[in-house]
Amino acid sequence: MTNEELILQAKEAREHAYTPYSHFQVGAALVAKSGKIYHGCNIENAAYGPTNCAERTAFFKAVYDGEREFERIAIVGGPEGSPADTLCAPCGICRQVMMEFCNPETFQIILADGKNKCIQLSLKEMLPYGFGPDNLG
Ligand code: THU
Repeated sequence: MTNEELILQAKEAREHAYTPYSHFQVGAALVAKSGKIYHGCNIENAAYGPTNCAERTAFFKAVYDGEREFERIAIVGGPEGSPADTLCAPCGICRQVMMEFCNPETFQIILADGKNKCIQLSLKEMLPYGFGPDNLG
């Protein structure tokens, strides 16, 4: 699966978003080491705090399925009703969830807008000096 194909899947996942409060829709497509792809969208809540980001939705679906190792994730986000105009970077909580299951040196995060712009960073670049399972020895 090319990054371009993965980005298309993240765009499709974005259409599943439940965003009655922020009206900001995010989609993610996560590639597990098994080769399977897990999709996620953000799911908001009237109490705001329980809102789940697209990235975590994808990770939690995958972990439920028994996946524990991951290769890369594509993320597309922007205001409802328009293609994403800018790149949408994962929030701190999602970066920390990635840190739990991903090798920071090799896991790749692909951010794409609704046009042709796209950047790719490792988890280490996105979360330098991250705290993960290895820190606990
Ligand atoms: N959000 C995501 O789903 N992923 C991100 O990478 C950034 C933010 C969601 C959370 C909330 O539903 C909305 O975007 C606005 O913050």
